Amino acid sequence: MNRYLITSAIPYINGIKHLGNLVGSQLPADLFARYQRARGAEVMFICATDEHGTPAELAAAKAGKPVEEYCADMWHVQKDLSDKFRLSFDHFGRSSSARNRKLTQHFAGKLADNGLIEEVVEKQVYSNADGRFLPDRYIEGTCPDCGYENARGDQCEECTKQLDPTDLINPRSAVSGSTDLETRETRHLYLRQSALRDKLDAWIDSKKDWPVLTTSIAKKWLHDGDGLRDRGITRDLDWGVPVQRGDAKWPGMEGKVFYVWFDAPIEYIGATAEWADTNKLLDSDWERWWRTEKGAENVRYVQFMGKDNVPFHTLSFPATIMGSGEDWKLVDYIKSFNYLNYDGGQFSTSQGRGVFMDQALELLPADYWRWWLLSHAPENSDSEFTWENFQQGVNKDLADVLGNFVSRVTKFCRSKFGEIVPEGGAFGDVENALIADLTAKIRTYEAHMEAIEIRKATAELRAIWVAGNEYLQTAAPWAAFKTDPDAAAMVIRLSLNLIRLYAVLSAPFIPDAAASILTAMHTKNTDWPDNVAQALNTLQAGDTFTVPDVLFAKISDEDRENWQERFAGTRD
Ligand code: 2FM
Ligand code: ZN
Repeated sequence: MNRYLITSAIPYINGIKHLGNLVGSQLPADLFARYQRARGAEVMFICATDEHGTPAELAAAKAGKPVEEYCADMWHVQKDLSDKFRLSFDHFGRSSSARNRKLTQHFAGKLADNGLIEEVVEKQVYSNADGRFLPDRYIEGTCPDCGYENARGDQCEECTKQLDPTDLINPRSAVSGSTDLETRETRHLYLRQSALRDKLDAWIDSKKDWPVLTTSIAKKWLHDGDGLRDRGITRDLDWGVPVQRGDAKWPGMEGKVFYVWFDAPIEYIGATAEWADTNKLLDSDWERWWRTEKGAENVRYVQFMGKDNVPFHTLSFPATIMGSGEDWKLVDYIKSFNYLNYDGGQFSTSQGRGVFMDQALELLPADYWRWWLLSHAPENSDSEFTWENFQQGVNKDLADVLGNFVSRVTKFCRSKFGEIVPEGGAFGDVENALIADLTAKIRTYEAHMEAIEIRKATAELRAIWVAGNEYLQTAAPWAAFKTDPDAAAMVIRLSLNLIRLYAVLSAPFIPDAAASILTAMHTKNTDWPDNVAQALNTLQAGDTFTVPDVLFAKISDEDRENWQERFAGTRD
């Protein structure tokens, strides 16, 4: 059996995520996980909250809560929203878990044993006004590379460059805004990733099938300038994984924690261990996903993330894994995304600009968003959310094409034959042509889903829905019914089966609508249509169904205008 380990980049704990975050990792990862499960694969789908470091500390301070309490509360908020968006994680963990703490300390110990950790006395920015060191996000300034004025101390959001706080031009404290800063000496651990440069280079070269976006970013950081310089993996902060060498103390590192980007990807493993704990399973149950000698050899590991996360997943995290010298699973495929923009600008968490997950669900059910976002996934370039485009996508694809087919067929059947699958004769030429057409389209759809070409898969699924509508138009059962009721019955029998087939094929995109359709068709049969002719004979004459409620309501111009206005500004 095929086995897939699927991870989505773990969202920062601070605040509710916007739709741009959602489409950049968790949602496409969910699509792939649902698809692979539907094809009979064994799937382990993992996500978590990224709880350490400055983003959490800053947000907790703003919320006036102790950081542990803030993280625990926000984990529930994020978990609830991911459930409501139907993100089907096998486990949604927390990077602050005991499992992750142990694993992070374990990896650091192994890296040290293998000579890949160096202790460096470095100069760090110290804020006199705040009375503390200012690591990472505690400091903001101008990016030395692209000139963006609000770059953070760890990374420039604009050009994705990984930064050190001391790189910033015109630095200021993110806590107080103070520019009364000086540099002071402090001792830190550095990961000697440069020692692994050739190994990483060869490994990335071997990934011929990776998306260009992923490899181009990886190569850029490997070869252009300082991409693979050794990096500090510890910080002068209170909140984080305490620095230890495995189970032992690390002399000189008292009171320091690991850098959030060191422990965050390790949480992919940590969360899988948490999954085993939650389900009262054994270590061997999670290790078979992660240790090649314990079963992970035959696992295909696919990661999903936004482009700003690519350097950490192609270089830093693999350096940790390789450098451990142990049999941990390395990623097989990295699907990365560009950005989704919002109505002529950027979605922004800090500025509260755009539509956030909680707000989206106040307007419409998850499926509407899932469909639009996935059909506009920013795969080859940045894409843009506009309310016009959203209205159009929902109304045309979901209401006019899919919803209308379901409604026309079931209502016509009810009025002529009752809520029962009618008998009718055998399929004729038109039906056989439809079966051939659908077979070709479904095979294409599968190929795009396997390749995680999301927009292409969406287009093919839409074409599969359209084929049903065209068939109905050609076969015209309402006309046939007057002269040849048997022929009309056969068309309707096929069409009712097509409705079930649509539910099965569409479920990875719109799981709730798919479930409602299956309920309405009084069937639990979710068999994948390996054989389309057979699939169209699943519901048999005499089987009952219920005409479903409207699957997708159209978005009116008035709603669209109201929403446009409501979301024009920024969130408080
Ligand atoms: O960019 C982000 O939202 C990060 N929290 C992603 C971390 S992914 C990983 F490495 F765990
Ligand atoms: Zn920049």
